[in-house]
Amino acid sequence: MSELVTKKELLAKLKSELDSNSLNTYIFSYEAKYGLASRPIFTKTPQPMAIPYSWKYRKVKELLNQVASLLTLEESERRNATMVNPGLKDIVSIATTPTIYSSFQVLKPGDEAIAHRHTVDAFRFVVEAPHEKAYTVVNGVKVNMREGDLILTPDWAWHGHRNEGDSDVYFMTGQNAILIYWIGASFYENYEEVTGSKFEPILYTDREILSYFEGGLVPSGGPFTVRNPLIYYPYERMRKALFSLYEKVKDPQIVVDYVNPIDGGSPLPGMRINMRLIRPKSSTRLMRRTENSVFCTFRGEAKFELPEQKKEFKCEPYDVVVLPSWTQYRIVNDTEEPAILFSYSDEPVFRFLGVFREEQKSG
Ligand SMILES: [Fe+2]
Repeated sequence: MSELVTKKELLAKLKSELDSNSLNTYIFSYEAKYGLASRPIFTKTPQPMAIPYSWKYRKVKELLNQVASLLTLEESERRNATMVNPGLKDIVSIATTPTIYSSFQVLKPGDEAIAHRHTVDAFRFVVEAPHEKAYTVVNGVKVNMREGDLILTPDWAWHGHRNEGDSDVYFMTGQNAILIYWIGASFYENYEEVTGSKFEPILYTDREILSYFEGGLVPSGGPFTVRNPLIYYPYERMRKALFSLYEKVKDPQIVVDYVNPIDGGSPLPGMRINMRLIRPKSSTRLMRRTENSVFCTFRGEAKFELPEQKKEFKCEPYDVVVLPSWTQYRIVNDTEEPAILFSYSDEPVFRFLGVFREEQKSG
């Protein structure tokens, strides 16, 4: 028996004893030298457990409708299909990335999803909706849901959804729920249990909210006590911004961020959210960033190329791609039409910790 084998056996025995006493030691977490570290932690570059992955909207919608046909809203307060990262599914059942939970939710005509609130920050990005009469109420503000609209439900804001229109509503939800779960900060309240009513009264319209902030006016109190009181970012304005810049800026991609008008920062503290336009027959630079990103193709078609992973994801409208931190990628638009993508990430978390890094390759 060689000295190395003997050493390996001794270390394996030691590891087993450490394990049984809920202990570990550096060499078992640092590298795989003796084949005993299943997942080294101190890696030279980020090696996320999450993997790059893509979901086809057609399939998500089909299964979401099966959920909705089997469960009433009384049985399941929210009827959704959560996008579960295969690299994380054995750790947390609903993790799309290490910090973010993302799903598609459906509201059938006549549906009323009762009001609740939680410390998790969330947004809705509407992908399909009737022309009118579908809305979310956020802290007493009635916000209409139309395709491409972004609606925020900042932490501890009451929110419930209703569809009084004549066709289904489908929206994507993004939440920092996994981060909040990990750090032990999840609180939740049901509006009916607190007040005796299922829904909060409607006090303001979304147009009133927009008129305050576009005039540089910040009301105090009422529903405006949340960290970002703007709440509503209609697509009509984002679209105008993207296409006016499209005429003036000749870059392959135009990125427009949603921001919090109070402090100019990200719309929710843990999530950067934006939309981008990729020009026809164009490609972004090859890049990588320390952020966990979720992309939803909104208009047109896009292709994500991941040369290091030898993977590519082709996306039609509402298909979703998740890219873990430090994944090298470029976005390509092979078509003759502009591609518009909605995306969000946990970049603010990396910046807060002082560990944000970015690499771009020219050409
Ligand atoms: Fe919620």
